[in-house]
Amino acid sequence: MKQSLVIAPSILSADFANLGEDTQKALDAGAQWVHFDVMDNHYVPNLTIGPLVCQALRDFGITAPIDVHLMCKPVDRLIPDFAKAGASLVSVHPESTEHLDATLSLIKSHGMQAGVVFNPTTPLDCLDWVSDKIDLILVMSVNPGFGGQAFIPSALDKLEQARAWIDRTDRPIRLEVDGGVKPENAHVIKKAGADTLVAGSAIFGADDYAKVIEQLVKA
Ligand code: DX5
Ligand code: ZN
Repeated sequence: MKQSLVIAPSILSADFANLGEDTQKALDAGAQWVHFDVMDNHYVPNLTIGPLVCQALRDFGITAPIDVHLMCKPVDRLIPDFAKAGASLVSVHPESTEHLDATLSLIKSHGMQAGVVFNPTTPLDCLDWVSDKIDLILVMSVNPGFGGQAFIPSALDKLEQARAWIDRTDRPIRLEVDGGVKPENAHVIKKAGADTLVAGSAIFGADDYAKVIEQLVKA
């Protein structure tokens, strides 16, 4: 079941010195979610933000869903902290946890939605075993770690496979894509079945956020 389109700006490309204001600006420009990239310089070669910053955005007054993408290893210890910090949804890479089923249960037990993230060469195989525990599938269209990379075209095939898998379930599972999403490729991405578009540099690198978001929606 394909759901209404959600635009999730990745704040990795936002102005970190004015993060609350810049995040609110993207939401005011028409975005629905905040995509929050957590990197640990271990699972991925970059270091970013954690629960304290999530809490700071809530304290600033951000009320939109915060979509936490964990690129950390291990992940379990961070999950209760993100729940306390106001995260809405937490997605994990199968490679980052020894026990994916237990990690997804941990996310759900803290009242958050759960997602599974697939790197460009990670097969979708595990989905069959977690269908009752996930609210979102995140297909990476770049190797995780940095904003501003080029979209890897094979992600389109993976999106189609994931869409077909979702349609075989009767669950309202979202299909999100992350990496190199721009107004120029949004049409083929949506055609492949994505209903949730992460965009970092495309939105925060533009002068007019609303214009880019409108282009992503209308593509
Ligand atoms: C990459 C992150 C992405 C990144 C996307 O590891 O998961 O969310 O910020 O950035 P763009 O849209 O610039 O490719
Ligand atoms: Zn991400």
